[in-house]
Amino acid sequence: MTTTERPDAQAEPLRSRIVAELARTRARTDALTGAVDDDDLVRQHSTLMSPLVWDLAHVGNQEELWLVRDVGGREPVRRDIDDLYDAFKQPRKDRPALPLLPPAEARAYVATVRDKVHDLLDGIRFTDRPLVADGFVFGMIVQHEQQHDETMLATHQLRSGPPVLDAPPPPEPRARVAAEVLVPAGPFTMGTSTDPWALDNERPAHTVDLPAYVIDAAPVTNGAYRQFLADGGYDDPRWWSAAGWRHRTEAGLTAPMHWRRDGDGWAYQRFGRWAPVRDDEPVVHVCWHEAQAYARWAGKRLPTEAEWEKAARWDPATGRSRRWPWGDDEPTAEHANLGQRHLWPAPVGAYPAGASPLGVHQLIGDVWEWTASPFHGHPGFAVFPYREYSEVFFGGDYRVLRGGSFGTDRAACRGTFRNWDHPIRRQIFSGFRCARDAHPEEAHG
Ligand SMILES: [Fe+2]
Repeated sequence: MTTTERPDAQAEPLRSRIVAELARTRARTDALTGAVDDDDLVRQHSTLMSPLVWDLAHVGNQEELWLVRDVGGREPVRRDIDDLYDAFKQPRKDRPALPLLPPAEARAYVATVRDKVHDLLDGIRFTDRPLVADGFVFGMIVQHEQQHDETMLATHQLRSGPPVLDAPPPPEPRARVAAEVLVPAGPFTMGTSTDPWALDNERPAHTVDLPAYVIDAAPVTNGAYRQFLADGGYDDPRWWSAAGWRHRTEAGLTAPMHWRRDGDGWAYQRFGRWAPVRDDEPVVHVCWHEAQAYARWAGKRLPTEAEWEKAARWDPATGRSRRWPWGDDEPTAEHANLGQRHLWPAPVGAYPAGASPLGVHQLIGDVWEWTASPFHGHPGFAVFPYREYSEVFFGGDYRVLRGGSFGTDRAACRGTFRNWDHPIRRQIFSGFRCARDAHPEEAHG
């Protein structure tokens, strides 16, 4: 061994990838916060959401805590604002009243933090320390910012005023999609132990054995959902759970969020523009209770999380679980409606290249899909790197959502990625598909 340390040649591709992902993500944050004026940035558009300027500085604060202070061992940039941007100390409804950094200061702060991150990346060694091995903590910070970008996109959907966001419409259908797909009985590998940027709640890989079941080949569409509406589904307690019916009554639910009557039909509002509801798009902005009621009305049920993941990842030819439905390659524009490339879900059949081996479509992108499952750790779960990422949410009334939406970035989504929310939430880009037990003749046919 020589005493001179040579630059770590292995580290260079990883360092370049991290720099590119950080830059790509910040460009999205800048676009979402730059689309509105300063008054709009500090305003609270819904008590469910933070002012956009809170999200912005919070993203920078998390980056400072983990990368500048912990990984880099540098002096704090702004220790005085840590509490203001601690999501656990400051409930969303209270955030507009806090002495937040004004927009110009928030922008300067996140830029200063980012400069320091670039500086420490220049000399970084990706050692065996779990936090930095394979660049994990950088991936965690990229995912965190992307998740807040999706939250900011949901805030944009809630704001009033003239439209400020634009994107081309998603692709038209390119394939016919079956109604349902049979998933044969047997074991599959759920979760991952090898994906370097997977979060603690996706770990570890473990075997789950499922009986045969049938799952919808596509998310439930507006057209199908309208039949539930026309059939009086919102007025019939038979379809709703006790908690669901109570919520439906108290909240006065009559249709998905952002829908209104339009003559004989329905219209929906998307980022400040009204349009007639299109029947072949996945329904979006429904809560778990609405999804559950629809499924019961349709003679089905919501899939469990394991059923969703087996349909998405299991390859019957090899028996292994893929990273994505189409394979292990990163998503492209051909595979899925991700990354805010478009501003709403694509019609069913728009992504044949993204189907799973069993022929299940649009599992990734378009709409987050509610599952029947509460949020728990996988068997063998271990907190990493901090309890507040996932563990403190285990066992609450949360339900798991899978697959990502049109507003989810590919860095914050994969076949194992897990999202969770309260069953009454629908300001998120949430839809669903249904499942049912296989009949004996199907299961053995
Ligand atoms: Fe956060």
